[in-house]
Amino acid sequence: MSDRRGKETHDDMWDSGTQGLITRIAVVAALAGLLFGFDTGVISGALDYIGDAFNLGDIGKSAVVSSVLLGAVVGSLVAMAIIDRIGRRRSLIASGAVFIVGSIASAVAPGVGALDIARLLLGVAIGISAVAAPMYITEIAPAARRGQLVSFFQLMITIGILVAYVNDEAFSSNGQWRWMLITGVAPAIVLLIGMRGLPESPRWFMLKGRDADARKVLEKVNPTEVESEMAEMRRGIDEEKTASFRALVQPVLRPALIVAVGLFIIQQFTGINTVIYYAPRIFKDAGFGAGSAAIWATVSVGVINVLATLGALALIDRVGRKPLLYTGLAGMAVSLSAIAVSSMLSSGGTITAADLVTVVAVWAFVAFFAISLGPIPWLMASELFPVGVRGKAASIATVVGWLGNLFISFTFLGLLDLIGESATFFSYAAVAVLGLVFVWFLVPETKGRTLEEIEEGFIARAKARLKD
Ligand code: BGC
Repeated sequence: MSDRRGKETHDDMWDSGTQGLITRIAVVAALAGLLFGFDTGVISGALDYIGDAFNLGDIGKSAVVSSVLLGAVVGSLVAMAIIDRIGRRRSLIASGAVFIVGSIASAVAPGVGALDIARLLLGVAIGISAVAAPMYITEIAPAARRGQLVSFFQLMITIGILVAYVNDEAFSSNGQWRWMLITGVAPAIVLLIGMRGLPESPRWFMLKGRDADARKVLEKVNPTEVESEMAEMRRGIDEEKTASFRALVQPVLRPALIVAVGLFIIQQFTGINTVIYYAPRIFKDAGFGAGSAAIWATVSVGVINVLATLGALALIDRVGRKPLLYTGLAGMAVSLSAIAVSSMLSSGGTITAADLVTVVAVWAFVAFFAISLGPIPWLMASELFPVGVRGKAASIATVVGWLGNLFISFTFLGLLDLIGESATFFSYAAVAVLGLVFVWFLVPETKGRTLEEIEEGFIARAKARLKD
């Protein structure tokens, strides 16, 4: 075990050059999050105009929305194949190139088929980078700041969603959906250029037996602890060999896999994207149908998402992951139940007290999500696994997340018709309650621990269980 308090003292001693490099790495990699948020969020305001341009019905429109999610499933699988082979950095560069091609192709698409394919490509880029970016940051960040730096990725997702809402609004007067979509090229170019000159993850170098290269990177990103970090990373890789779990199916990896996959299932099945993608519809049902009221209500969701994620950044390495998960899930259960009750009481006509409760409850729901289930699944998918299987394991967890996202986004409008808004939101609230039980029994606290310490904890527990 290394001395955690000692690490924090070392952090204080960093010179500004080291701090600057780490911040630059986190900012550039997190641009992938901005693109993720932008390209998933942009469709909410563009969809109606695209529908008009290509004469689309409900199914055609759903295809335009979901092609990006389907692409992300494919992208996570591609990540599984390439991330350990070509490395975290080059995977991110590859995704940047695909982002550029996908953004241009979607903006100039001559027909809906071409648009669906272009959106699928964007999804592939999102899927790859959503595995590569958090992992790249996780493996380079010092333990004491890891939570904060990876949450920065989530912050950029929320900023991307907000920028998409505002961007849609700016181009909506003449229905210029092509301009709405082309905006995504700019951050993609910055990502690609920004990655030039950034180092590869030292843990990936170690995995490839390139110890000298790993050392060179550590000298730049963590100069006061090169030797202890090298020893610890080597121990992580040796431990993995002695435990000989090369394949993901090994029982010793199961607890970590259950936690990572479980967190993504809870993230999606508590229904966040019903609000992110369909906020205008929810506010319309609550009586805010008239033009700008619904738009401002939607933008307000984007703003609250960003602000609360800033709160997560401030707290995650201080209070830890589990207290945030408890607070977030409990708050989500209550606010989802409030949405369910208030929608039962809403008359659908003029705005009543119940409708105002719906708005406040939606805001509260988004805020509680943002301080907990927003960043933590991305963080834990990257920090729970031994380096040898980290790429594949994180890809599996995110594939499940994307499939959950597809399922919820696809079933939401149907569920509203079938069982009504109230029962729909009560069922999401029930998932939040189950989530509390899950966190209580299965999720470990990872605050301030090095990646190798986290793995050792898991391996020790799994081995103990296997012996019983
Ligand atoms: C989720 C997305 C969601 C976003 C909202 C992310 O962590 O994976 O599905 O749209 O948060 O901020």
